[in-house]
Amino acid sequence: MLTIAVSKGRIYEEALPLLAEAGITPLDDPATCRKLILQTTRPDVQLVIIRATDVPTFVEYGAADLGIAGKDVLLEHGADSLYEPLDLNIACCRLMTAAHKDAPAISGRVRVATKYVNTAQRYFAELGIQAEIIKLYGSMELAPLVGLADCIVDLVDTGNTLKANNLEPRELIMNISSRLVVNKAAMKMKNKAIAELLDQFEQTLAKRCPPCPT
Ligand code: ATP
Ligand code: PRP
Repeated sequence: MLTIAVSKGRIYEEALPLLAEAGITPLDDPATCRKLILQTTRPDVQLVIIRATDVPTFVEYGAADLGIAGKDVLLEHGADSLYEPLDLNIACCRLMTAAHKDAPAISGRVRVATKYVNTAQRYFAELGIQAEIIKLYGSMELAPLVGLADCIVDLVDTGNTLKANNLEPRELIMNISSRLVVNKAAMKMKNKAIAELLDQFEQTLAKRCPPCPT
């Protein structure tokens, strides 16, 4: 049995066609059903439905053999404990700094609101900017509007959320897409099944274009 960890929402929706090409179609819809373990049309494959930020943890500890997670989440988790063999080119967006459109360019000491605490810390340290990082769990865009922070580090796709809140994108930290991650022990113990699945995903991805920018 192979267990794949996936989060509900955009990653699940975008992963479904990829999974289907490998013969994996869930027997229930997580949007309408409360089950957390979904059987699929392949009796040897099941999905576990978890929060996006929990995917690396489930895979690292072997609670799932494989997982699909955004590069943003993997960066923040620290991905040394996992294999990351495939860029699935889904859920593409950008990890950026953003600030109020009238705010001056960042210089000196800066207060940053984000859920990506480790990534932001590393980013500003590399630039030699002294940053005080304030951990938030969502609605980061609000922080500069209410004086909680000078800027934010968050995901940007269309830019509509920033625009609607009088913010603007500033610096690109990284282009983001979702990756297939694999538990290190499972890669050895279930090598044949995992290698076959990777091969099927690769073939499907090769037919698709264009990839997310890297
Ligand atoms: P959690 O539920 O753990 O707090 P989340 O709310 O960030 O996570 P989603 O919004 O489903 O979960 O995002 C999952 C992943 O999809 C992110 O980690 C990122 O890689 C990608 N993503 C997030 N927002 C966007 C977006 N606006 N456009 C494209 N991809 C996005
Ligand atoms: C993400 C992200 C931004 C928004 C960016 O939030 O945190 O708020 O998408 O997308 P845009 O540039 O297309 O507006 P999401 O929609 O996942 O909501 P969340 O805050 O619940 O994670």
